[in-house]
Amino acid sequence: MNDSAVPPTQTTLWRNARLATFADASGWGWIERGALRTEGDRIAWVGPDGQLPPTAAASVDTAEHDLQGALITPGLIDAHTHLVYGGDRAAEFEWRLQGASYEQIAQTGGGIRSTVAATRAASDAQLFDSAARRARTLMAEGVTTLEIKSGYGLTATDEARCLAVARRLGQLGDDLPLTVRTTSLAAHALPAEYAGRADGYIDAACTWLAAQQAAGLVDAVDAFCDTIGFTPAQTERIFQAAQALGLPVKLHAEQLSDQGGAGLAARYGALSCDHLEHLSAGGVAAMHAAGTVAVLLPGAYYFLRETRLPPVAALRAAGVPIAIASDHNPGSSPCLSLLLMLNMACTLFRLTPEEAWRGVTVNAARALGLRDRGALVAGQRADFAIWDAEHPREMAYRFGHNPCRRVVCGGVERRAIGWT
Ligand code: NIG
Ligand code: FE
Repeated sequence: MNDSAVPPTQTTLWRNARLATFADASGWGWIERGALRTEGDRIAWVGPDGQLPPTAAASVDTAEHDLQGALITPGLIDAHTHLVYGGDRAAEFEWRLQGASYEQIAQTGGGIRSTVAATRAASDAQLFDSAARRARTLMAEGVTTLEIKSGYGLTATDEARCLAVARRLGQLGDDLPLTVRTTSLAAHALPAEYAGRADGYIDAACTWLAAQQAAGLVDAVDAFCDTIGFTPAQTERIFQAAQALGLPVKLHAEQLSDQGGAGLAARYGALSCDHLEHLSAGGVAAMHAAGTVAVLLPGAYYFLRETRLPPVAALRAAGVPIAIASDHNPGSSPCLSLLLMLNMACTLFRLTPEEAWRGVTVNAARALGLRDRGALVAGQRADFAIWDAEHPREMAYRFGHNPCRRVVCGGVERRAIGWT
């Protein structure tokens, strides 16, 4: 986690703003002419400008900004990325355009395995620099919290290297002030050296977790449960290893086929199940019962030209919280725009703009097990974005357009991020 030091007494007052607070269980939490006061790295007061208590109004040591009607939202949270990797898969994209499928490329040794080779060959500095550039691009659109998975190393050393790069990205303080949550995804693909020995690979991957945890490198554990990934039984062994260490789990579930992964993950109290195009009614019910968040990934759906939609109506009817993420990765979603995902969640998955926004704020925080952010409420972390817009629905409507003007992270404005 990023803990760049903000003096506990530093107070800032943002006035004359439109606010979408997401403070309640539904609605925008709209305040037409609002004010927001931060103290140190926390939000101290939010409400209508006219109700600002005299004690919360500016004093000699409070910086005050008149936003002249600009919009403030919570900082965006990208709850599913694979940001640390070497190389790219542009050639594979050309093969797919000539008719090869994502699964065919994976089965012939391309796909995730080609990124594994490029990642193993990359130096720590190369992995770090490329991931930092990607993180800055996301942050320029208002992202203040980011999940990063391993999964392209697939050896004890290379998985730890990728997690360490991710962890370091979250510890740069003023240079890159966002919060990073790390997820261990050793069960992403079977590395070539374990061909025919998937159970042996899972045995090994289970033993890496304790060392990753002891080194402070891992906040959660994930797996890819699918025909080109791992079986439910292998996935369950990863979950058992995580559970024994007290680490929360999440799952790439029901992306290309229905393996019953969501039900399995729910039995382990998963924070989230992600993708979910092939999720069954039983999977929806299990996620609801476990309080598991559905993380929908419209970038991968679009880029792989999937035709089967995730069961949004069933998720909505069951009251399963829905999050939206970029799934940034070189193979199925080489996308660095969470704002574009807002638009795609609406156009492709038929979410309302409010649902899409909840998906990158409150529900994304929940998918990461974070309770201190995602809404503009007193006591929460002072992570927010300031937009050249009148209402957040505009960002779900436009695409290829970035109206983010200022990013405040932990109470401090990070003006230069992404514009350097
Ligand atoms: O989330 N589904 C598995 N993992 C990634 C894709 C990884 C890749 O193709 O490199 C995903 O879509
Ligand atoms: Fe993914």
